[in-house]
Amino acid sequence: MPASTTPQTDARPVTVPDFQSAKSQGRKLAVVTAYDFPLARLCDAAGADCLLVGDSLGMVVQGLPDCLGVTLDEMIYHTRLVARAVRRALVVADLPFMSYQESPRQALRSAGRLVKEARAHAVKLEGGERARATIRRLVEAGIPVMGHVGLTPQSVRALGGFRVQRDEGRLLDDALAVEAAGAFAVVIECVPAELARRVTARLRIPTIGIGAGAGCDGQVLVSHDLLGLYEGARPRFAKAYADLGSAIQRAVGQYCREVREGAFPSAEHEFK
Ligand code: KIV
Repeated sequence: MPASTTPQTDARPVTVPDFQSAKSQGRKLAVVTAYDFPLARLCDAAGADCLLVGDSLGMVVQGLPDCLGVTLDEMIYHTRLVARAVRRALVVADLPFMSYQESPRQALRSAGRLVKEARAHAVKLEGGERARATIRRLVEAGIPVMGHVGLTPQSVRALGGFRVQRDEGRLLDDALAVEAAGAFAVVIECVPAELARRVTARLRIPTIGIGAGAGCDGQVLVSHDLLGLYEGARPRFAKAYADLGSAIQRAVGQYCREVREGAFPSAEHEFK
């Protein structure tokens, strides 16, 4: 049976409190991004604990140079496709740039749409200290929040590019602020491994690392990097587990050749 149709009926859906239990029990959390129904179905069936509908879709799906142009309506559309496919994984949707920075009230409206219209289980937003009041407001309203500190791609202009973040004091203050505000987990992006390990040891909530070494409580990768589907520059932390880009090119190339040579369709593909 192909993986896409393998039922996960024996597996209980992952919940927000399961993230806390995973940390307490030393169980690593596997998170991967997904943006559409078929990929979400496959990642869910493969056993990912959490599917993140990341605003990285701006780069890997929309072909933009960064994620700044992604809109809330686009996030709602993609999250809906992912949520529809999932049977087990927790679905977390990114709040895109300028859908929450204005005020906690704006954040609540945006997050509410992701939960109500797209059926996200939780939302993710960037920022530590500066996002404290916003996270608190969403959590008070019953919307689980995943934080995101270290390299925050929505601030790429202010940070001067996609660079490793080395300020330990700031990282720790940001991560502690996210925890104090009530987030259930926090992504730590692109920081030295030892630093992420120390922050992880200080937090009660799980840390989900990307480019932050093995000391985090879980890992997240962009699915198009993991699968070899993204043609742009792949950061060194983004391990490719497959080269689907080449496989797709080979398959479509063969199809084109067979059509031109008259080899496809053959008798077995015809109606008698
Ligand atoms: O948008 C995204 O995919 C993310 C991950 C890289 C953590 O934020």
